Amino acid sequence: MRCEHKLFHGKTLAILTGGGDTPAINSSIEAIRNRASFLGYKVYGIRHGWKGLLGNGDVLDLTNQPYDGFYGGTALRSSRTNPFPSNKNPEDRVPQVLRNLERYKIDVIVTIGGDDTNGVAKALYEKYNIPVIGFPKTIDNDLRTRTMHNFNGKEIEAVLCPGFPSAAKGVMEYAGRIRTTAESHSRIIVLEVMGRDAGWLNGGASFGGAEMALIPEFEITKERKDFFLECVKEEYLRSPKKSLVISVSEGVRWYDAVTDKTDVVYASSEVDEFGHPRFGGISGIVASEISNKLGIQARAESTGYYARSGECRLYDRRLTTTLADKVVDLLLREDYGQMPVLKKTCKYQELEEFNTTSIDMGEICNHPLPGVYYDINKFRFSDAYMDFMSYILEKPHFLKFDYDFPVVIPED
Ligand code: F6P
Repeated sequence: MRCEHKLFHGKTLAILTGGGDTPAINSSIEAIRNRASFLGYKVYGIRHGWKGLLGNGDVLDLTNQPYDGFYGGTALRSSRTNPFPSNKNPEDRVPQVLRNLERYKIDVIVTIGGDDTNGVAKALYEKYNIPVIGFPKTIDNDLRTRTMHNFNGKEIEAVLCPGFPSAAKGVMEYAGRIRTTAESHSRIIVLEVMGRDAGWLNGGASFGGAEMALIPEFEITKERKDFFLECVKEEYLRSPKKSLVISVSEGVRWYDAVTDKTDVVYASSEVDEFGHPRFGGISGIVASEISNKLGIQARAESTGYYARSGECRLYDRRLTTTLADKVVDLLLREDYGQMPVLKKTCKYQELEEFNTTSIDMGEICNHPLPGVYYDINKFRFSDAYMDFMSYILEKPHFLKFDYDFPVVIPED
């Protein structure tokens, strides 16, 4: 017989997803939904992020519905809606959100998002006392989670957000595959990787064999550009098959001789409601400068949405369920305004609730790649970063065929 006297029977928890999708969102929704149902909550899904709480609202009932957490993206859909006044939309739409929370009788909201979506949740909690729990999500991995990484006895403040492990694996595979084409044509391939403000995701390409990397944290000024091109030439000539893969984050700031400015490359002039412009195109610029200045064939390629889409990988699957276990703890203690996080970098087998904690949503902010993870003189990720990534991706993985066929000399 079904027990109707569960602790939170009669209460409703709603889940919302905002910002760019990741392969781990459905897994997060499913895990949170299952655990909240177990506690007795009726579970709703708010569609299209904060937009689903505007106007008449757009809310679904997820209770006891079939779900596929391995399927990437978000079944609740997403948007980059900011109900607070912004430059793009000066109207204060928070009263609509508050009214809908009442109309739908929502007692707690769990917001799956990065710093924008969770930033709105935090403000609702602080200003209006709305019970919220933030749940981390980003392929860029730049949302502070205070996850500590011990490398050679030194504690490094790292970040580990659901979505990143699957995306990093995708970037690793992409870079690993592209090597065979780079080698066949003795080319340099400049591979663009998402990452607006941080280079965390770019490191996946190094695991796929990319030899060099440019990340947003270190801008390429006029002087650095000359040095970078020298290093590219050296690295190319040293490479056994005369080929290179260079991964470049979309948010890299690059010196442009025509404008005499160091800036990012914009994909469009639009900005979203959180004030973010769209970046894209840096790989083409870097590739053409390599071709023109070094006389080596270079091509641009973009991993784009490949990293963000597709199935949830195993590490993410277990990470999301582990963090959802921590959500249960927060719900039981009615400890709102918190976000579950991993305490330390963990191997797959150690992804367990006892390795989690929560941080105050007031601490949510952007956390770029720490300097110790990147060697600015070699334009590549450091051993410390490779160690960090090995918790998630285990070993570097790429296609490899070392051939050295004897040369045939004709008998004249
Ligand atoms: O926020 C994650 C992210 O993937 C960024 O790396 C990228 O700049 C942005 O989303 C692009 O999002 P969209 O194409 O959906 O506007």
